[in-house]
Amino acid sequence: MSKPADTDLAAYSGFATNLDGKAMAALLRAEVAKDVAALQLRQTKPGLAVALVGDDPASQVYVKGKVRACQEVGIASTMLTLPATTTQAELLAQVDAWNADPAIDGILVQLPLPGHIAARAVIDRIDPAKDVDGFHPLNLGLLAAGRPGLVACTPAGILKMLSIYGGAHGWTPAGKRAAVLGRSITVGRPMALLLTNADATVTTCHSRTPDLAGRVAEADLVIAAAGSRHLIQGGWVKRGAVVIDVGIHRNPDGTLSGDVDYAAARLRAAAISPVPGGVGPMTIAQLMRNCTDAAARRRGISLV
Ligand code: GUN
Repeated sequence: MSKPADTDLAAYSGFATNLDGKAMAALLRAEVAKDVAALQLRQTKPGLAVALVGDDPASQVYVKGKVRACQEVGIASTMLTLPATTTQAELLAQVDAWNADPAIDGILVQLPLPGHIAARAVIDRIDPAKDVDGFHPLNLGLLAAGRPGLVACTPAGILKMLSIYGGAHGWTPAGKRAAVLGRSITVGRPMALLLTNADATVTTCHSRTPDLAGRVAEADLVIAAAGSRHLIQGGWVKRGAVVIDVGIHRNPDGTLSGDVDYAAARLRAAAISPVPGGVGPMTIAQLMRNCTDAAARRRGISLV
């Protein structure tokens, strides 16, 4: 199948709706702040514990953003910065302490971890009721079973972006063909499950997928979480598709790019999320949502 070039005027669909994650995240944080206030009326306050091991500069930025969001919505945050030499046993002991602490509702160990610590062992140790990342096998299993649990923040935030866009434009994932690029437990796998649960027909693509361009070209919804700068060319995108870009890559001039060639893709897409200012802010706002939901559930309080 021959693909139209990025410059194919016949494929031009007008400029896409910008899926403004910054604005949507502000709305979501405002909703969470209301729920935190409702919990406070019942003499309780959600608490999030965050561990950062080592000095990865990108992780430092992400973690700071998470702590700032906690302050904004009224969640109590405990931030622990540990040296890169921290042993797995020491980190697991810290997780155990937070598991046992009734004031802590959410536990987040920032990834990636130094090579001598097995992320899997750490994830498995977190109490599933406090697993605000949604990475624990129990929570992933609940998602696979279509049952309620804590869902990973990036895919859950993306589903909310799609719901906000869909509410305004009469669009829904139901009945759509979706291509999810990436199969990590942080984004791709839970994203594919969420979209399946939302009645989309989902193709999960990865490094061994033949004819990736063809899979993208037939998709009404593209979720790009492949970790490869500008992997998705504008000409691959189906006219009128909704495109969500999870990638974040620093360019030599200091600017940021995603997995999608935004400038070319927006000429064909109906809606597209920018980088920066798209998925990133929604991920953090969703973490606030997860932590507040975990606090309410652990205390037997209904927020609705
Ligand atoms: N590193 C990059 N994204 C994430 C995330 O969502 N959670 C954790 N724990 N680490 C990350």
